[in-house]
Amino acid sequence: MKTNQAIIDSLNERLSEEISAVSQYMIHAEMLANWGFDKLHEAIEKHAMDEMHHAKWLIERILFLDGNPTVKPVHLSIATDIPSIIKHGLIDELDAVEKYNQTIAFALEQHDNGTRDLMAKILNDEEHHVDWGEMQETMMTQMGLETYLNTQV
Ligand SMILES: [Fe+2]
Ligand SMILES: [Fe+2]
Repeated sequence: MKTNQAIIDSLNERLSEEISAVSQYMIHAEMLANWGFDKLHEAIEKHAMDEMHHAKWLIERILFLDGNPTVKPVHLSIATDIPSIIKHGLIDELDAVEKYNQTIAFALEQHDNGTRDLMAKILNDEEHHVDWGEMQETMMTQMGLETYLNTQV
C-alpha cells in the first residue's frame, strides 16, 4: 500500500531510535548481570526485548507501506553506575513518549489511522517504561541507594 514519503521518514526515525534503544539496554543489561544485580538485569533485558518488538513492528509497517526501512543509529548514552543506567533510560523513554505522540499527530493529519494505531500501541509500552524508571528513582530516594541496591540482587 503506497503512502507519502513523510510518513515513511517518520517511521524510519522511530526505527533508528528503537534499534539504538535495543543496543543501549542490552549493554546495560549485561553490565548489571556482570555486577550480580540479577533483578535489574532481568528488568532491563525485558525493556531491550520490548524495544526489539517495536523495531520489528515498525519495519513491518514500513514494508507494508512500500517504504524502505533504514537505520541511522542514534548516539548511545552508556552509563557507568546503576543510578545513571536508570536515569539515562528514563530520559530516553520520556523522549520516546514525546516522539511517538508527534508521529501520532502527524499520522492523524495524514489520515493514516493504521500508522496511528500502531504508534499508540508502542506509546503505551513507552509510558510503562517511563513509569518503571520513575518508580526506581522514587525507591532510590525513599530507601536510599544502598537499601535499594540490596533489593535488586
Ligand atoms: Fe520502543
Ligand atoms: Fe521504551
